[in-house]
Amino acid sequence: MDLLEKIVSLSKRRGFVFPSSDIYGGLAATYDYGPLGVELKRNAKERWWRDMVYRNDNIEGLDAAILMHPTVWKASGHVDAFHDPMIDDKASKRRYRADELIERHIEKLEARGKEEQAGRVRERFLAALHSDNMPKELHRIILDEEIRGPDSGAFDWTEVRQFNLMFETHAGAVADDETRIWLRPETAQGIFVNFRLAQETSRQQIPFGIAQIGKAFRNEIVARRFIFRMREFEQMEMQYFVAPGTQMEHFEDWRERRMQWHIDNGVRPERLRWHEHEKLAHYADAAFDVQYDFPMGWQEIEGIHSRTDFDLRRHQEFSGKKMEYFDPKRQEKYIPYVVETSAGLDRTVLMLLCEAYEEEKVEGEERVVMKFHPEIAPVKAAVFPLVKRDGMPEAARALAADLREHFKAFYDESGSIGKRYRRMDEAGTPFCVTVDGETMETGAVTIRDRDSMAQERVATEHAAAWMKDRMKAWRRSA
Ligand code: GAP
Repeated sequence: MDLLEKIVSLSKRRGFVFPSSDIYGGLAATYDYGPLGVELKRNAKERWWRDMVYRNDNIEGLDAAILMHPTVWKASGHVDAFHDPMIDDKASKRRYRADELIERHIEKLEARGKEEQAGRVRERFLAALHSDNMPKELHRIILDEEIRGPDSGAFDWTEVRQFNLMFETHAGAVADDETRIWLRPETAQGIFVNFRLAQETSRQQIPFGIAQIGKAFRNEIVARRFIFRMREFEQMEMQYFVAPGTQMEHFEDWRERRMQWHIDNGVRPERLRWHEHEKLAHYADAAFDVQYDFPMGWQEIEGIHSRTDFDLRRHQEFSGKKMEYFDPKRQEKYIPYVVETSAGLDRTVLMLLCEAYEEEKVEGEERVVMKFHPEIAPVKAAVFPLVKRDGMPEAARALAADLREHFKAFYDESGSIGKRYRRMDEAGTPFCVTVDGETMETGAVTIRDRDSMAQERVATEHAAAWMKDRMKAWRRSA
């Protein structure tokens, strides 16, 4: 079993992530977060919100609707240009993204030391991406390079065709062109269309940001790899509005800050890297992705984009409403430029799961332990009575109730202490607190550290503060 398979299996077994509509056999590329997963996801979200909205007095929050006026998507370019180039393998009947097939082919050539050929293909690939006839050019590369179907090994391809990724629906009772609307494919547009209202009501001055966390929908044709690529997912986006000409300094600043956020969540720096976009989106003048070293290779978790004034200008054009801002420092009016940080919440959760997963040998037995940063861990403390008598369950329940005033705590009295530890290791609970005979005499409990498994006696009344201090000071053990 590879690491991703192990994580998928642990996620279902322990209640992190379930296939959506599991009793009906699931629905492709949609997932539900179970009791542990929802806590993990909320913790990641809350850390992002705190880091963006609470720590910066020039960033405001927003919660825009998923359904928006259909002209939004015409103005943003999504109706005309939100496509993926797809190709079908006639042998396996599976569909692939043509650009990804070529990228993988280039990586394979590089791995085999065929640098020269890889360079040539890359050059052709970049030219194809910029060409007006992109699908045809990609198709030609696939044929010339004799790229085979990853699942069938066959060389029997259809043409490359463009698929729009937006989910379409209808508002109201009649389903015709007049009532057609789309589920938003990104949260960003909700921020752009509210730019003026949010700026005026908050009285922010440029530079300032608007942050939002919410669902987005994309009809991904190739939706695989668990929660990495879903059809319904969550984004954490922040649009930072700046004066024209200053976007690059803000872009660099946000790149640094966003990378640090992931590291502060306990992700090892050597598993993160920057990837510069070779082909810029129609709206961008610079774009970098934060990539993580997933079990299936380096993949994007967040994009930092310098989006120029494209979106506000287009909304001004399509709505007829002014999107200009009067800058009191510069004494001039302009349409602000935008630096965007756009992180996928589900991909962040998958990264945190991959990063935390460890298998260790303990006294001849194997333990699976999720070494989450304690502040991200779904449950912070589990409280166990050593035995189910002599007042220990009552004392342990009382302590669990006390701890719940501070963070999520769990009471467990079933099974041996060893089994209870293992269950909590798999849940990634940083502290297991045992109420034993000595507690009943001295009032001190034993707290076991998830990572080192070291145990310490701590007075019951200091237990919450002791754990909070440890959580703050946490560093990943080697
Ligand atoms: N507003 C810009 C924007 O949406 P993007 O690179 O298309 O940019 C940003 O998406 C982030 O959203 C990605 O880095 C990724 O983490 C997440 N994301 C995009 N598509 C996704 C999908 N199908 N499933 C899960 N996450 C996705």
